[in-house]
Amino acid sequence: MNTIHCMDCIEGLRALAPGCARLIFADPPYNLSGAAHRTVQSGKRVVCDKGRWDQIKDVHKFNEQWIEACLHALADDGTLWISGTLHNHPSVGMALKQLNCWIINDVIWFKRNAPPLLSANRLAPSTELIWVASKSKRYYFNYRLAKEINGGKQMRNMWEISATRHVTPHPAEKPVALLERIINIASEPGDLVVDPFTGSGTTAVVAHALGRNFTGFELDENYAAMARKRVADIDIESRINQPAPRQTHDPTAAQIHLLD
Ligand SMILES: C[S@@+](CC[C@H](N)C(=O)[O-])C[C@H]1O[C@@H](n2cnc3c(N)ncnc32)[C@H](O)[C@@H]1O
Repeated sequence: MNTIHCMDCIEGLRALAPGCARLIFADPPYNLSGAAHRTVQSGKRVVCDKGRWDQIKDVHKFNEQWIEACLHALADDGTLWISGTLHNHPSVGMALKQLNCWIINDVIWFKRNAPPLLSANRLAPSTELIWVASKSKRYYFNYRLAKEINGGKQMRNMWEISATRHVTPHPAEKPVALLERIINIASEPGDLVVDPFTGSGTTAVVAHALGRNFTGFELDENYAAMARKRVADIDIESRINQPAPRQTHDPTAAQIHLLD
């Protein structure tokens, strides 16, 4: 099952069955668009404008509301992963604390190929931070698989994954490799993965390819259609190529972690 609803995620998440999602990956508006923010496009400094959706008046209230709605849908042993930059991660961290979440990790995603800083007035931003939280200290996390993915060495909380050329016109498309890693270590085949801010559908595509169920929400009709098409295109490809069944990880490696 892979369903993308064109609707507000707060309403959508509240309507899901309580505790249905093993993993929620959220890539919310970072609130970095508008006259005060600059970015680099084709080597030039321009005002950052990802779209109307990225300009929120009371961003903390918004974060509290959608995170609370996520907690309704999150399984008791599920995890909630939220990406961000300095524009929104203090508010997200505060909201997680206010909602009594257990913060498991802050993953630093390092993009070695991030664009250069043209203003020459600070360090060149090349990271995003991903909060990882749960409802309690008892949550699903496949430590063994994470170690395996990392060549047999314990995986650290700094991930080097280069930004990739976008395959859609969405301005905030995440790399497939990032979602592949998160979905693999935080869910099992057959689990439900939810993405409240589906955008171009990266989470939907990877969840589908890894044999997970998916439910997503997206406000913009064009983006929702784009995301559905990306998932349908995988289906078409797999029917044409008829690939061998994808090897999944050893289910005995699945672990529920109880941390102090
Ligand atoms: C940062 S982008 C997500 C990009 C996505 N991870 C990808 O790989 O394409 C955030 C998306 O959330 C959508 N959005 C913003 N507010 C929303 C809301 N309240 N409910 C549902 N979608 C929303 C925006 O239209 C935008 O496409």
